[in-house]
Amino acid sequence: NKVEKGEVTWKSPSNIALVKYWGKKENQIPANPSVSFTLKNCKTTTKMEFQKKPEPSATFDFELYFEGKKKEDFKPKIQQFFERIEQYAPFLKDYKLTIDTENSFPHSSGIASSASGMSALALCVMSLEKELNPELSTLAEITNEAFFYRKASFLARLGSGSACRSLEGELIEWGEHKNIPGSSDLFGIKYPFEIDEVFKSFQDTILLVDKGQKQVSSSVGHKLMHGHPFAEERFAQAHSNLDKLKQVFASGNLEEFIAIVESEALTLHAMMMSSNPYFILMKPNTLEIINKIWEFRESTKTPICFTLDAGANVHLLYPEKHKEKVLEFIKNELVAYCEKGQYICDQVGKGAEKL
Ligand code: PMV
Repeated sequence: NKVEKGEVTWKSPSNIALVKYWGKKENQIPANPSVSFTLKNCKTTTKMEFQKKPEPSATFDFELYFEGKKKEDFKPKIQQFFERIEQYAPFLKDYKLTIDTENSFPHSSGIASSASGMSALALCVMSLEKELNPELSTLAEITNEAFFYRKASFLARLGSGSACRSLEGELIEWGEHKNIPGSSDLFGIKYPFEIDEVFKSFQDTILLVDKGQKQVSSSVGHKLMHGHPFAEERFAQAHSNLDKLKQVFASGNLEEFIAIVESEALTLHAMMMSSNPYFILMKPNTLEIINKIWEFRESTKTPICFTLDAGANVHLLYPEKHKEKVLEFIKNELVAYCEKGQYICDQVGKGAEKL
């Protein structure tokens, strides 16, 4: 092919799951479907320069820079990603790649950058594919653009499961579900039903309770669901919570929303506490914050709730119209439980952008 060299840059966000993905099969196939809000401010920007190799070779040749500095320790993860996607992107070995990446959120904030990072990289790979083959889609029933995003999400999934939910906004579903048309284990889709306006500007303030390295990597975590005594019940519950959320998303019923989202977060942690080996990923301050949130909700009737990832940080979710009041509450009551008083204000976003 004719393309000798060039560069492409994508900026892609993180996402926060409402129904959690926890447990996977071979080839990054999720054990249960999940749904997430795409975020707006927590983003990874990745530039990929490509230069055709003089001779074809059998290796992936790439250099990696993180915030301007060469980063050898991230290389194995990227090497593994390229190996997994090779059969879908065979042209990668024809090019020497220079990958330059940076995050909008503070380094080692305890915020996983795998969803934003892997989705940005997958989009760069797709942009290279598109340069090589502008008539990307060979399927008559699907437009070039839809094909582009679908394949990018498919590739991102192979980098990190939840990354396949980061490309578009505002609500993304991933994993086969009998009542969600178009749903697939292979890629994320835009949630296909009506969603109330309140969710399109939902706020997510991330309270940084523990900025340290994760105690359990998510790949180890997913494996703990193999042979887990409650696995089958949990997977069934995720399906049923997705069913319940359909009504909630359409109606904007925040009471129901809160009940499902908080239960999902606690169930995720309950799975880790009841696996073999077992883990407690919450910290004392995680529980302090949760109790404060409950008190505030009870006493002010403000519809705020929490969710958690596989770590100690707390995501505080609430409608935009309560922003002022909630930020005041955070400053007065929650900041004291955050490491170095740090938190990140984010909200629902529209997905990745090509720069
Ligand atoms: O994408 P992974 O393999 O890092 O798994 C992420 C899993 C959770 O963040 C805990 C839940 C989710 O659905 O995002």
